[in-house]
Amino acid sequence: MSDVAYIEDLAAHEGETVSVRGWLYNQRSSGKIAFLQVRDGTGVVQAVVSKSDVDESVWESVGRLTQESSLIVRGQVKADARAPGGFELGLEDLQIVHIAEEYPITPKEHGIEFLMDHRHLWLRSSRQIAALRIRAKVSRICRSYYDDRGFTLIDSPILTPASAEGTSTLFSTDYFGETAYLTQSGQLYLEPACMAMGKVYCFGPTFRAEKSKTRRHLLEFWMLEPEVAFATLDDIMDLAEDYIEHVVQTALVECADELEVLERDTTSLQRVQKPFPRISYDKAVELLAGAGEQFEWGDDFGGGDETVISEQFDRPVMVHRYPTAVKAFYMEPDPDRPEVALAMDMLAPEGHGEIIGGSQRIHDHDLLLSRIHEHDLNEDAYRWYLEIRRYGTVPHSGFGMGLERVVAWISGLPHLRETIPYPRLLGRIYP
Ligand code: 4AD
Ligand code: MG
Repeated sequence: MSDVAYIEDLAAHEGETVSVRGWLYNQRSSGKIAFLQVRDGTGVVQAVVSKSDVDESVWESVGRLTQESSLIVRGQVKADARAPGGFELGLEDLQIVHIAEEYPITPKEHGIEFLMDHRHLWLRSSRQIAALRIRAKVSRICRSYYDDRGFTLIDSPILTPASAEGTSTLFSTDYFGETAYLTQSGQLYLEPACMAMGKVYCFGPTFRAEKSKTRRHLLEFWMLEPEVAFATLDDIMDLAEDYIEHVVQTALVECADELEVLERDTTSLQRVQKPFPRISYDKAVELLAGAGEQFEWGDDFGGGDETVISEQFDRPVMVHRYPTAVKAFYMEPDPDRPEVALAMDMLAPEGHGEIIGGSQRIHDHDLLLSRIHEHDLNEDAYRWYLEIRRYGTVPHSGFGMGLERVVAWISGLPHLRETIPYPRLLGRIYP
């Protein structure tokens, strides 16, 4: 059909008669005139039809339409300042593709469990479309940042023989008689690759069998991880800061329409400009004490602690040099103070918590081997990882950014479940 147009392109067809293919979002009628809100995935347009202007059969079809029925509306594109995209359609013809059964999601309020059970339909609502468009755009912005700066994309495997981030959150599966695990992070596979290509990154799904139900945890989430040969902790803090500034500032421009749908107040995002504050873990512990929080040096921060720390700053804050004992086995100890690791987390403002975790990696073979033993890890599974330290080992560093956490922050969504098309949560794998 040559006269088919997408709603987002209607401006280019002013005065022409076009066909829009989509679904009925909403309608109202006054008996003689009907207003059909039609959506096609690119936008919503109002098609106006008056009984006296169309064939009786068309008017009858209008009367049969139910919410989410699929249809093709044909009509003239008319500029109308009051219409949402600035245009409406003077309906001339209507073709019903399918009359929808009674649609379970209505404009009234629904409970979250109900909406999650109907996620496959909930995707059609304007807020969900906006959130998932932001996700798609932010993914692209993130990837381009590295593609444009000489990083090579390295796809790390999803099935792995060993743990990267602690053994307590592993999903395991049978691998023809051996146990395989779903990857928690691509990092271990990036480290060898950065010795080959200097600057690399990976971006893919990662899995954590988190036994707690929180608004910041998914069991399956997407992580973007850069890894750089010869980089130190300071170097990757510089990278993380430049990267997050770029992502947020670019998203503010490219996702402006979607942010408006979500009614996101973007003032705090405008402030996401370099330099970001950098504080040591020690200093963060002092901040917590100053805020009257019960917290002992040596513990890892919980979600509540992160919120209290980040509330002290008007932009993301980087906390560095965490106690070695609470961090991963591969982190380089601070040479001046081995009880702390050359690690950093970036905490987002407005209670969105840790968006980035990273570190300098141990590059000395024997130190790494002793850490593997201390952490009770199976040396055999890490043989290849240790070998990197035997052939021209160099300091290197990297970090991982949780895509959904960043999307939640940018979108102003309090819970990660709306930032991924089909969230995997404790107690939920349907749909
Ligand atoms: O801090 P994490 O565990 O770091 C790593 O996995 C490193 N191996 C990354 C690296 O250095 N290459 O996770 C990194 C980020 C967190 O800062 C957070 O944004 C996100 O991944 N993340 C989660 N997002 C959603 N749900 C979860 N359960 C998450 N766990 C971590
Ligand atoms: Mg972390």
